[in-house]
Amino acid sequence: MELANKNITIIGTGNLGLAITNGLLSSGLLEKNKLTITRRKTEGIEHFSTQGIAVTNDNAKAVENADIVLLAVQPGQLKDVVAETQGVLQNKLVVSTLTGVTLNQLQAALDSSNAIVRAMPNTALAVKQSMTCISTLASKEDTALVQSIFSVLGESVVIEDELMQAATVLGASGIAFWLRLIRATTQGGIQLGFDAPDAQKIAVQTCLGAASLLQQNNGAHPESEIDKVTTPKGCTIAGLNEMEHKGLSSALIQGLVASFEKINEI
Ligand SMILES: NC(=O)c1ccc[n+]([C@@H]2O[C@H](COP(=O)([O-])OP(=O)(O)OC[C@H]3O[C@@H](n4cnc5c(N)ncnc54)[C@H](OP(=O)(O)O)[C@@H]3O)[C@@H](O)[C@H]2O)c1
Repeated sequence: MELANKNITIIGTGNLGLAITNGLLSSGLLEKNKLTITRRKTEGIEHFSTQGIAVTNDNAKAVENADIVLLAVQPGQLKDVVAETQGVLQNKLVVSTLTGVTLNQLQAALDSSNAIVRAMPNTALAVKQSMTCISTLASKEDTALVQSIFSVLGESVVIEDELMQAATVLGASGIAFWLRLIRATTQGGIQLGFDAPDAQKIAVQTCLGAASLLQQNNGAHPESEIDKVTTPKGCTIAGLNEMEHKGLSSALIQGLVASFEKINEI
């Protein structure tokens, strides 16, 4: 069955739940009356009800007619949601976005009849450019259904659950790492003479261009694109090698590893 025929309930309409709600609405993939959203203090999401979306703070009522239940509460709030939906969550396809909660832990917390999928998006959901990593205990069909939700909000890939912590670092924390690189190149541009808005515009679009070159060339290797801009004895290779002498690649790899070690301690 296609997504359009499914009733979806989002439990926990905070930052992530809101981004998914807005993405689904603007995608046109889903009739508005097929979507229900919840949080305890509904004031901030009440305006969605004027658009035909069911808004409630009653999680049990919200999941009764749902085919897919998407959990977007904080990890520590999972226990409450499970308790509140006791008896009405059976046979639902449950999608969890909860950081650090493994498929095995979800399986232990939920009903044995639940098909379970775990999704790790990033904040670029808000602009439909999320990279969402998905791990699954559900059937191929159900997993594809969940992928179709996240595919309207960017790209998605199915990975092993063991890699979810690494996916959190590379994909979710990765947003912060790339933004810091953009900030640094913007600051460099200002030192070279641009005003801040122009420097940022050039840095952002150049970053987007570099990513698009790889994305649109079917996963071309970064170095093959670098070769195209590094003239022998030229300015690009001089700058690039100086950055490497100062440890650019090494700093990024060590940063990813430090982030990974930290997430495994939490
Ligand atoms: N933000 C991201 O980019 C991102 C990326 C990947 C994964 N995640 C994960 O996604 C989850 C949500 O993140 P977030 O940033 O959206 O957090 P958030 O802004 O704190 O949103 C959580 C929402 O859950 C609601 N809530 C809490 N208990 C509830 C309950 N019993 N029933 C219904 N709603 C309840 C809260 O509203 P009330 O207090 O009004 O109930 C709040 O709006 C987290 O587990 C996070 O680890 C987030």
